Amino acid sequence: MSSQSAVQQILDQIDTRKITRFYWIITVLAAIGGFLFGYDTEVIGIASVFVPYHFTGFVYGYEIASASLGAALGAVIAYFYTDKYGRKSLLIADAAIYTGAAILSALTVNGLMLLVLRTVIGMAIGADSAVATAYITEYAPKDKRGSLAIMQQWMITIGILGSYMVGIAVLFIAPSAAYVLGWRVILGLAAIPAVIGLAFRFLMPESPRWLLLSGKVDKLKADLRKFQLIADDSLIQRAIKEVRAEASAKLDSATKRALLVVGLWIVFQQITGINVPFYYGPTILLRFHLFNSPSNPVFNEIDAVLAASILAAINVAATYIAFKYIDRVGRRKLGLSAYAGMLLFDLLGGVLLLRGVLVGALIAFAGFIIFFAYGVGGTGWLIQAEYFRTTIRGRMAAIIALIDWLANFAIIEVFPVMLSTIGLTGSMFVFTALDAVALGLMYILLPETKGLPLEKVVEMFGQTPTSRLRKAREGVVS
Ligand code: BGC
Repeated sequence: MSSQSAVQQILDQIDTRKITRFYWIITVLAAIGGFLFGYDTEVIGIASVFVPYHFTGFVYGYEIASASLGAALGAVIAYFYTDKYGRKSLLIADAAIYTGAAILSALTVNGLMLLVLRTVIGMAIGADSAVATAYITEYAPKDKRGSLAIMQQWMITIGILGSYMVGIAVLFIAPSAAYVLGWRVILGLAAIPAVIGLAFRFLMPESPRWLLLSGKVDKLKADLRKFQLIADDSLIQRAIKEVRAEASAKLDSATKRALLVVGLWIVFQQITGINVPFYYGPTILLRFHLFNSPSNPVFNEIDAVLAASILAAINVAATYIAFKYIDRVGRRKLGLSAYAGMLLFDLLGGVLLLRGVLVGALIAFAGFIIFFAYGVGGTGWLIQAEYFRTTIRGRMAAIIALIDWLANFAIIEVFPVMLSTIGLTGSMFVFTALDAVALGLMYILLPETKGLPLEKVVEMFGQTPTSRLRKAREGVVS
C-alpha cells in the first residue's frame, strides 16, 4: 500500500461517514459559544440602559463595544494557541471564561470591573469564533460540512434572540428592580449555557484532522472510535508520518488566495451593516414612533427590544434556509443571491424613506436580514474554516475572526456618525453601494466548495489563479 493512502484511508472514512446524533450533539456543543457570541454582543445594549455607573462619551462607547474589541484580542490568542495545542482545550477554556465572567458580571461592584469583565467575555467570544467552525469542519463529512458549520451561525442568531427574550422577561416581570437587580440578572444568565458548555465540552472528541497532525496516536485512536471510524495502530502511525512529511506552515499561493477571498467576504459581511438593525434598530424604530412608546423608561425599553425581537426572530428562521441548502445549492449561488437581495432591500429602504414612508426602514431591515441570514452570515463562518490546510487552519481562521471583529467594531463606531450626518436614508444608500461592491467582488472571486473534501479545497486554491477562482470548481473531482 502506498504511504499516501494511509492518510487518505482515514480522511475518506471521515468524509463519507453517515452523520449520527453524536455529530449533532458535538456540533451544538462546539457552537454553544456562538449562542454566547450572539447573547453577549447584544445584551449589553439592553442592560446598559439600567447599569447605574453613568458612563458617558468614550467610556459609554467602550461599554457597548468592549465585547467586540475583546473579541479581536481573543482571536489573536487563538492564533497563537490552537494549531499548537488543539481545538478542544481552547473551546473548554472559552467556556470556563464565559462562565466565570458571566457570574462576576452579575456581581459587579463598580464601573471599571464591569468594563474589564465585558472585555474578558469578548476575549472568549473572539477565541471561540476563531476556532468553532474550524473544529466542526475537521470532522464533518464533506457533503454535510456546510450544514454542520451553519450551526454556529444558527446559534449566534438564537443567542441574539435569546438576549432580547431574557431582557424583555426580566424587565417585564420586575420593572421596578431594573436598575438594581434586573441588569445583573440579564448579564448573569449567560452563565447557564456557559456552564453547560463547560461541563460537556470535556466529553467532546478532539478534531481528528488536528490529532493526525499533532501525532497523538492513542488519543487519535480513541477519538476516531467516538466517530465510529476504524483505524489500527499501524495505519495511524503511517498516516501521522505522512502528514508530518507534508506539513509546512509556509504562506503559499493557495493560502494567499484563500485569505483574499474570505478576508474580503468577512469585511463586507460586517460593513454592509448587519449589526445596524441589531445594535441600533430599537432606537431607530422608536424614533420613528412606529410603536406607541409609553413614557416609563423601562416599558419604553421593553417596546424597543420587542421591535428588535421581530427582526431577531426573522434572523433565526431564515438561517434555516442556509442550514438546509448550503450543501445542496452551494456557497456561491446562495452567497451571491443573498448579496443581491440585501442590495435590493437596502435600495428599497432608501427609496421608501426618501418618499417619507417611515415603515420602509422596518421592511428594509427585515428583507435585508432574511437575505443575510440565508446566504451571507453562515457562509462567512463556514468558508473561514474550509479554505485552509490543517497545519495552519487555526491560525488563518483566527486572522479572519480578527478581521471580522475589527470590522464589527468599526461599524459600531461609524454608524452613529453616519446617522447624524447623512441620516438613515443616506446610510441605506451607502449600504446599497457596499452590497453592490460585495456582490461584484464575490462574483469574481468566490469559488464553489460544496461537497469537496477539505484537502481538495486547498488544492483547488493552489491550482487556480485568482482571476479564475469563480470557475475553479469545474476542474476538480470531489
Ligand atoms: C455576524 C454577527 C452578526 C450575526 C447576525 C454573524 O455572522 O458575525 O456580527 O451579529 O451574524 O446574525
